[in-house]
Amino acid sequence: MRDRYRKKEVSNPLIRCIPKDEVKNNVLQKELIGNTFFVIYKSDSRIWVISPCCPHKGADMSKGKVENETITCYMHGYVYDLNTGVPLKIPYGEAYGKWRETGNLEVYKPTIRDNQICLDLP
Ligand code: FES
Repeated sequence: MRDRYRKKEVSNPLIRCIPKDEVKNNVLQKELIGNTFFVIYKSDSRIWVISPCCPHKGADMSKGKVENETITCYMHGYVYDLNTGVPLKIPYGEAYGKWRETGNLEVYKPTIRDNQICLDLP
């Protein structure tokens, strides 16, 4: 009986964001989904979704360059793994101190449903 009054667990809804066919191949495409921008990159059958902000100094990642499942920020040349967001290359030495510090690039796992690229957002 008490279960009847228990709050139902509500999972985060999948947010339908963009038809897969509207994303061009091999182009960093910035898209507004809800009230948040994301950068989507499609290469043949693979799709990556990342934050548009570089974790180093906030540069626009849609201006970066993708190569071998990594993205290079156009501003200072930091290289991040597109799958994990981990920084792989920081082209400035220890002499740059705190300025050179960065975090992980935010990456999101998209799912494809009915030919739509969907994100499960918190
Ligand atoms: S802002 Fe992206 S590497 Fe510095």
